Amino acid sequence: MSPTDTTELTGLRGRMIHAPVYGALEEWRDGVVLWDGAGRIVDVGHAASLLPRHPDVRIDDMRPALVLPGLIDAHTHLPQYPAAGAGSGDLLPWLHRNIFPMERRFRAAEAEALAPLFFRDLAANGTTTAGIYLAVWEDSAEVCFQHAEAAGLRVSMGKVMMDDETYSDTAPTRVIDQSLEETDRLCRKWHGQDGGRIRYAVSPRFAVACSLALMRGAAEIAAWYDAGIQTHLSENIDELKAIADRFPDALDYTDVYARCGLLGPRTVMGHAIHLSDRERETLGVTGTRVAHCPTSNFYLASGMMALDALRTAGVAVGLGSDVAGGPDLNMWRVMRGAIETRNARSALTKGVAPLLARHAFHLATLGGAQALGVTDTAGSLAEGKEADILVVDPSAVAPPEAAVEAMDADEVLSLCVWRGDDRMTVAAYVRGRKLDVRSLNLEVG
Ligand code: GUN
Ligand code: ZN
Repeated sequence: MSPTDTTELTGLRGRMIHAPVYGALEEWRDGVVLWDGAGRIVDVGHAASLLPRHPDVRIDDMRPALVLPGLIDAHTHLPQYPAAGAGSGDLLPWLHRNIFPMERRFRAAEAEALAPLFFRDLAANGTTTAGIYLAVWEDSAEVCFQHAEAAGLRVSMGKVMMDDETYSDTAPTRVIDQSLEETDRLCRKWHGQDGGRIRYAVSPRFAVACSLALMRGAAEIAAWYDAGIQTHLSENIDELKAIADRFPDALDYTDVYARCGLLGPRTVMGHAIHLSDRERETLGVTGTRVAHCPTSNFYLASGMMALDALRTAGVAVGLGSDVAGGPDLNMWRVMRGAIETRNARSALTKGVAPLLARHAFHLATLGGAQALGVTDTAGSLAEGKEADILVVDPSAVAPPEAAVEAMDADEVLSLCVWRGDDRMTVAAYVRGRKLDVRSLNLEVG
């Protein structure tokens, strides 16, 4: 480790597991992670070799709990949370019936009430970083950023941009300028706040609702501020038909975004299910990332994403809850959905390799960090990164008589993925600072 003032160091001891490479786990059965006063990890390894080097450091002993990288939800919608689980139907009618009216009502007062609960539920479920869409309104976006700052989570977040189809009452002649001006103001104010913990994601909703001019303007703002971009791509067959009608000259859906400058390594596309080989190749070549949202894709009957084909094309993939397209914020459940998707596909198609808990765990940690462009700071327990850490007790969700401590790393992660939820969250940290992880579910009554 580099020379540091040891009086500032703090740390955790426990069963440490992370997934620095897709398909591989690294485990310290009795491990310690130490961070400095700025929340940066300065040492990580076996307790037996590390403790003698730091005899005076205060270390919280979490054994036999697991010490993991915090989970990353690469795609979710804060204003939609109250609708989670209560809708049905295909994407486009569901958006019009359940979602747009709810986002239309989401002004500053509604954000004041919902945002703190949303961030607390994220943390209670073990999520320390999230890619978040807001509503079109600048006032409620501002309130959500204030609460993200206070809650302590790492976020990549932005107000939704819509012009060709929108739920705001802004005059059609004014809507595009207003959307760009408000995005520019919010991005200038919030992108990079608190030493980069708060990031702005320029968020054109999808090309069904956005003009080419709005999407080009969005790409320019993101490039100017070096901010992120998030949008939706090829989620649903009727959505594809709408795109073909709106943009008859484009090669395909991906090409619409390419023509607007929206592809590239700052962009995370939600869903990316119904793609041609050409589109997957384009995403790979441009460095565009994808958020795979399997629980949403089952809920809205959207389809089953070919994760293997996307990864083979060189696309970095994370996982997203896509609330309220997905019914909950529990990223263990989303990991399980990724495996269920793969299992269903392999039952239908020969030669599809299995997806194990270790793969899903990688997608929900380092994969998410790649998707959101935060691998320098989050996604694994590595020296130099920030201490974004989740402590879980899998025995809280284990069946009676299960020998949790005798399980190997694959088995214990499998238990977490197939049965895990907020009951097993012991603590969560961002940059070494403890988050409020009291579960809203458990508090009721
Ligand atoms: N496509 C455009 N907007 C949305 C949304 O809010 N949720 C989902 N699942 N897909 C979308
Ligand atoms: Zn979405």
